[in-house]
Amino acid sequence: MTVIPNLTDLRPTPDDILGDVLTGLAQSPKRLPSKYFYDRRGSALFELITRQPEYYLTRTELGLLKASADQIADAVGPQAHVVEYGSGSGKKTRLLLNAFKDPVAYTPIEISHSALAETVRKIDRRFGSLEVLPVCADFTKPVPLPRPARKADHALIFFPGSTLGNFDADEAISILRAMGQTMGSRGGALIGIDLQKPRSIVEPAYNDKKGATACFTLNLLVRLNRELDSNFDLDRFAHHAIYVEEHSRIQTFLISQREQEVEVAGRAFRFAAGELMQVEYSHKYTDAFFSALAAEAGLRVAHRWNDPNNWFGLRLLRRIEHA
Ligand code: AVI
Repeated sequence: MTVIPNLTDLRPTPDDILGDVLTGLAQSPKRLPSKYFYDRRGSALFELITRQPEYYLTRTELGLLKASADQIADAVGPQAHVVEYGSGSGKKTRLLLNAFKDPVAYTPIEISHSALAETVRKIDRRFGSLEVLPVCADFTKPVPLPRPARKADHALIFFPGSTLGNFDADEAISILRAMGQTMGSRGGALIGIDLQKPRSIVEPAYNDKKGATACFTLNLLVRLNRELDSNFDLDRFAHHAIYVEEHSRIQTFLISQREQEVEVAGRAFRFAAGELMQVEYSHKYTDAFFSALAAEAGLRVAHRWNDPNNWFGLRLLRRIEHA
């Protein structure tokens, strides 16, 4: 495994994963947490998804960041400790760090050790003098921030890609609330959100013709078989993603292709033919809904940027300070 300099290692243990999986399989309908998609192969498959013509999210957000980087930098202010939740290809981060004035440090927080190592390698090559303080952790729980050698003016949390949309409303509120704590009273959070749009655009993004998304979904079972004592048969489950308008979200399932029994750590779970196991949500937001989530978490939308089609948005959140 690659050694990551200055690493704070708080990554989930096999016991954490097993506990979450057993809890999810005991529910009705069964579910598995989407945060476990991102092992080495899962992160590579997600990168492949972002290059599919149907997956509009990444290129739209990148275009929006390019067009708005200077305005974002002005709104954020100088000498930020930039904290990124999850780390993708690094292109978006580089854009921001280039635009920001005198950033003090960069902390990627990422659950996948291999994806984190890749991020650190790319950032280190490009920004020699920036202090890089990576944390391998599950950012859905509060994460203590490493302290930079040079004092930062404030923290700026960057949470791109509409990853917030992978959580249900209660989880999203608790992530936003934890962000409010982490950013402090002078800080902010820049969040990428996928906006509501017709089903004819959204659904193909999660059912690409090449089958990258299907491989990504099934890789969750590959990972569980490797890391837990489980025997999911990959030929007996299939990817199934639909847009549920009532909830304004893509719901991704693994659908059992036949009646079967699966063992996980010595416990047996029965699946009926056609049974749907929930593995991911991808919410598509309206401004009103997103602002309400933020307000529940004690945050307000201080600035907003959208791409010309209003497909994707960036929102700068600040704490609601009470007099
Ligand atoms: C990371 N996240 C925002 C992606 C999404 O669009 O929900 C993950 C993904 N799942 C399937 N395709 C992409």
